[in-house]
Amino acid sequence: MNRRLGVLISGRGSNLQALIDATRDGRLDAAIAVVISNREEAAGLERARAAGIDAVVIGHRDYRSRHDHDRALVRELTARGVGLVCLAGYMRLVGPVLLDAFPDAVLNIHPSLLPAFPGLDAQAQAIAHGVKVSGVTVHLVTHELDGGPIVLQRAVPVLENDTADTLAERILVEEHRVYPEAVRIVLDGGWRIEGRRFRRTGAPGSA
Ligand code: GRF
Repeated sequence: MNRRLGVLISGRGSNLQALIDATRDGRLDAAIAVVISNREEAAGLERARAAGIDAVVIGHRDYRSRHDHDRALVRELTARGVGLVCLAGYMRLVGPVLLDAFPDAVLNIHPSLLPAFPGLDAQAQAIAHGVKVSGVTVHLVTHELDGGPIVLQRAVPVLENDTADTLAERILVEEHRVYPEAVRIVLDGGWRIEGRRFRRTGAPGSA
């Protein structure tokens, strides 16, 4: 797979930072071709620029529809030669225009063990439900919200006195480890989608 990444963000950008760090220290053989935010105040834009990566704002409010906004994203991503799109705290639903332009090539990171607690505030959902274990999931994005084939998961214990914030903090540490690893797995190839499953087939190129 083409090793040029496009990272989509909406906010803080700590997962973006983890990807930047991994490409720099050799854990991830890839180049971040562009970072795109739908919000101009996203702190992650600064992280990208500090790393010498082009950072672009494509505001969703500037477009009439999700389709039009997605089309603008696709134009930018294809113009930069992106092969894999990484959502990193991107707080918008991704529509068919983008998914069809990047089939099996859009990844997302979600702070729970999917299919538990999809959608917003996954850590608060986990606390409210009283689960003893939560974690992080990296998955391919499909039309189903937080429902695509799972590339990697890591469990994080929920402690007795955890709040949504303390749990989020500990999950985040794991997110930063797991996202570069999942991107590497996808880029290396040697996998296929079987129904819901992301199956590693061990073909050449897979580490
Ligand atoms: C992370 O918890 C990620 O799993 C979720 O949104 C948060 C983004 O954090 N999708 P950051 O912007 O990467 O710091």
